[in-house]
Amino acid sequence: MPSDRLDRVRLGGVVPSHVAVIMDGNGRWAGERGLPRHLGHREGMKSVREVVEGSVEAGLDNLTLFAFSTENWKRPLQEVSALMGLLQLYARKEAADLRRQGVEVHVLGDLDRVDESTRSAVEQLAERTRGGDRLRLNLMISYGGREELLRAARALADRVRSGELQSSEIDDEALEDSLFTRGLPDPDLLIRTSGEHRLSNFMLWQLAYTELHMSPVYWPEFDREHLFEAILDYQRRDRRFGRVSAGVQAS
Ligand code: IPE
Ligand code: IPE
Ligand code: MG
Repeated sequence: MPSDRLDRVRLGGVVPSHVAVIMDGNGRWAGERGLPRHLGHREGMKSVREVVEGSVEAGLDNLTLFAFSTENWKRPLQEVSALMGLLQLYARKEAADLRRQGVEVHVLGDLDRVDESTRSAVEQLAERTRGGDRLRLNLMISYGGREELLRAARALADRVRSGELQSSEIDDEALEDSLFTRGLPDPDLLIRTSGEHRLSNFMLWQLAYTELHMSPVYWPEFDREHLFEAILDYQRRDRRFGRVSAGVQAS
């Protein structure tokens, strides 16, 4: 069904190149229905499908989804296993469809902590979708912003110690080249669902000037129309980057 909101997005001005999403609220969605938490995560897979398709329709270049944080390792083993199982299911079930849509999947995070079958499933997904040229989808798995910055600090320190780099040469570019997100533009828009207003250790360097859209909707109920609504909200923003608005006269 053609979406009126999608038409408004297309007419509304600049579409963000990169949207990042903290997919939150699966547990509460399930709890309010008397269901176990893992069924909330399962339902959340539909929203992933919705938002990926919506991103292709809206013409985004990059979509980054926070699927599992470094802190999420502290959840009960049963829930961690259920989440890893769903990642495997997603990777196996969706590969062909993602490929057909021209979506290229990248997996970013500390994959050394992820069990072998999940790691190989998501790596195969990345492999099978390589070359997709309509949308780059970044799945952030076992990802934490602080962890990422610490790894970058260590990598840069090693390069200085080996004499490859002077400490005075450590600039934005050198640091960004040491992050998991190397080569990706910073997100223009961050969406967090479920009414929480925090970053929860997500992309701490990259979100410095990102526009924030906090949605009250639980992730399993978030669909492409909610994505379009967030983009319309973004299109109304005045991004100043510390300067004055375009059109303001000097005084
Ligand atoms: C988001 O939903 C999924 C992950 C963090 C992996 P939650 O599981 O955090 O759901 P709530 O916040 O408990 O409702
Ligand atoms: C953030 O959600 C992590 C992901 C969405 C993967 P959490 O539910 O883990 O965040 P907190 O604990 O409420 O801050
Ligand atoms: Mg949560």
